[in-house]
Amino acid sequence: MVKYNVEDCKIIELDKHHSDRKGNLTVVENGVTLPFDVKRVYYLYDVPGGESRGSHAHRELEQLIVAASGSFTVVMDDGINKRKFFLNRPYQGLYVKPGLWRDLEDFSSGAVCMVLASEVYKKKDYIRDYQEFLEFRKG
Ligand code: TYD
Repeated sequence: MVKYNVEDCKIIELDKHHSDRKGNLTVVENGVTLPFDVKRVYYLYDVPGGESRGSHAHRELEQLIVAASGSFTVVMDDGINKRKFFLNRPYQGLYVKPGLWRDLEDFSSGAVCMVLASEVYKKKDYIRDYQEFLEFRKG
């Protein structure tokens, strides 16, 4: 299995259609925008100030994380290095490779974290224990 690190995570600029007086529109299309096809979309919202989310890794899932509204920080961790991404634009997405730990923190008021995922929900795909994650990275 390919082992990715935090340098493999990157911000993808999404398609943005301007309209001077009527706002903007961003499109994400399978086969065009992302290195994977989207099977599931979910979003986090109403996160109380000071709370963090995430704190897990996925064994196989790939994701695009978008601040659809407001802002938050995603801290990516490959067991050796950490890398912080501040997301605050609905036309930018953080592409997250499999096998990396993530913490989501510093949610602004009204933040909406939209996640486009390559797979359906599978409980077994999660690693929620940090020590287990470090073992997984060594393996
Ligand atoms: P989780 O992925 O742990 O969210 P976060 O990383 O933001 O804290 O999911 C929170 C809860 O929601 C957990 O009990 C599993 C459930 N859940 C589903 O049932 N289906 C899904 O597609 C997702 C993403 C979560």
